[in-house]
Amino acid sequence: MKRPIGIIDSGVGGLTVANEVIRQLPKESIIYLGDTLRCPYGPRRKDEIKQFTFEMVNFLLDKDIKLLIIACNTITAYTLDELQKNLKIPVLGVIQPGARTAIKTTKNNKVAVIGTEGTIKSNAYYQAIRSIHPKISVVSQACPMFVPMIENGILKGPEAVSIVKESLAPLKGKGIDTLVLGCTHYPVIKELISKEMGTKVKVISSGIETAREASALLDLYGIANKSNNSPEYKFYTTGEVDSFIQLSSQIFNKPDNGTFEKVELKTLIK
Ligand code: DGL
Repeated sequence: MKRPIGIIDSGVGGLTVANEVIRQLPKESIIYLGDTLRCPYGPRRKDEIKQFTFEMVNFLLDKDIKLLIIACNTITAYTLDELQKNLKIPVLGVIQPGARTAIKTTKNNKVAVIGTEGTIKSNAYYQAIRSIHPKISVVSQACPMFVPMIENGILKGPEAVSIVKESLAPLKGKGIDTLVLGCTHYPVIKELISKEMGTKVKVISSGIETAREASALLDLYGIANKSNNSPEYKFYTTGEVDSFIQLSSQIFNKPDNGTFEKVELKTLIK
């Protein structure tokens, strides 16, 4: 089936997941939408996150997507259940895949999760990990400075290093062997995070497992693209398209035939 896969995030972070989907599913067309204009979502109220998400999802449903990947932990934490119940297409979030990756990785059953304030407050990772493996201890830490820093293109240098150091300080000395990047923006600064946590801590994210689960869902629903047409890649942002392109080229392998466009989303009045 040639219909595209839709991927959403509050900004550029979901591109870390899109990258993996493009790599693992090279025949599939992708439509990506980042709500850069209203990013970050992490500190927002639940009703606001839901409203913005439904606006993004409506935009993608109008483009006839066959599968929705919520490439944002914050949106997954607050809307996944509702979207899975109400949409006629399969919907995949990033928290279950992230939790499964953590369970596969830890050897000492001590895991830490970092994410936005919203994701950490929701306790979604703790619940996802513990529902599968009740013996794993989970320490959680919000890192609210990371998303604004990344969206502003501060990916290295002294400012980035000091923000990472300060944000991760509460996790030092906790004996964890696995750190889950519970925000799809964070893989962009994975090297800084790994360096700060030291070699004994494995730093993992949900992109690889999410793409694998997307592949399984396409098979399960019989909607994978089996034709030999070359896939199309369309990237939309609600913010400035030039800065979106510039930032995206620093964080993922932009496909040669990818197009970038600014969109205005229809506001849904409740
Ligand atoms: N990439 C989003 C996530 O995974 C960032 C949310 C935000 O905008 O704060 O949570």
